[in-house]
Amino acid sequence: MNHALMVYEYGGSDTLQWQEVQLAKPASGEVRIRHSAVGLNFIDVYHRTGLYPAGKLPFIPGLEAAGTVESVGESVTGFAPGDRVAYAGGPLGAYAESRNFPAERLIKLPDGIGERQAAAMMLKGMTAEYLIRRTYPVQAGETILVHAAAGGVGQLLCQWAVALGAEVIATVGSEQKAEVVRNLGCNHIINYRSEDIVDRVRAITDGAGVPVVYDSVGRDTFQASLSALAPRGTLVSFGQASGKVPPFDITQLSSKGSLYLTRPTLFDYTRTREQLLQSSGALFDAILGGEIKLEIAQEYPLREAARAHQALESRMTRGSTLLLPD
Ligand SMILES: NC(=O)c1ccc[n+]([C@@H]2O[C@H](COP(=O)([O-])OP(=O)(O)OC[C@H]3O[C@@H](n4cnc5c(N)ncnc54)[C@H](OP(=O)(O)O)[C@@H]3O)[C@@H](O)[C@H]2O)c1
Repeated sequence: MNHALMVYEYGGSDTLQWQEVQLAKPASGEVRIRHSAVGLNFIDVYHRTGLYPAGKLPFIPGLEAAGTVESVGESVTGFAPGDRVAYAGGPLGAYAESRNFPAERLIKLPDGIGERQAAAMMLKGMTAEYLIRRTYPVQAGETILVHAAAGGVGQLLCQWAVALGAEVIATVGSEQKAEVVRNLGCNHIINYRSEDIVDRVRAITDGAGVPVVYDSVGRDTFQASLSALAPRGTLVSFGQASGKVPPFDITQLSSKGSLYLTRPTLFDYTRTREQLLQSSGALFDAILGGEIKLEIAQEYPLREAARAHQALESRMTRGSTLLLPD
């Protein structure tokens, strides 16, 4: 018997309904995976609320999980029953005990990477990889600004930047989270609930501003992020935990110093299988080499994902959150 969480209509966390679902045999090119752990991501909230429409209702949310291959469809090569695997990205459907998934987007786990670890980091970690190495390649000696630094992506991004030799200014929403990012090696910490981001960044950088801001908070931080940049700096706006950034006048980019603005997504940086394997490979190396440590700070039974959503939306979580099938 296979169970999953379904969303029948967009809305609050109570729209997630645990039920039995039929699972067909894997189609050609697909692999059947028995999940051992599912990763919680903020994008799951956007899908549940309809901020990012899922396509059709009802649907099973979730984009990140790990487990074991149970069977493979026709024409699948490179995967066999018993393989330990993980994925990050579409198609939706990770909030399930078992599912079918395209082999083309599946990653085999190397020795030393556990399934829970993988479910907690594939989406967040590959995001950190492309943001810091490809969207804006951070250089040793640069001082950068990372918002929501104690969060899932934030913790990985900060550690990767520190490993590259950058100095990190981190924003957080509580004193407890400040302690967390201090322990990750962040050099300057701003509690953006009580301190002014731009004033602090200008003071830390002797008025210069930073060459890059990684902003996943969106509406509440967007303007401050633009104002914290040095001339010709880059604002990487990669999320909207506080809400959608409203339309804005692009002449702000010139008046604030010939700035660059990008709104990247993981999918566009892992479009090809080669890119997917390179990104996941770099993440595995960073974890196995000890440059990045993963904090799985919350675990919930998969069937109680609604509670996990509430915690994430109310800023109660830090690091990664796992949803565990029974
Ligand atoms: N574009 C991409 O490729 C990509 C890929 C993965 C994730 N993302 C984005 O990256 C962000 C982080 O994702 P995540 O899953 O790792 O989540 P997360 O950072 O663990 O959780 C979100 C954090 O944002 C902060 N926040 C600030 N204002 C908030 C508000 N009004 N409501 C809720 N949270 C608020 C909170 O930290 P404080 O309490 O410290 O403020 C909260 O813990 C999300 O915006 C997500 O959409 C983008």
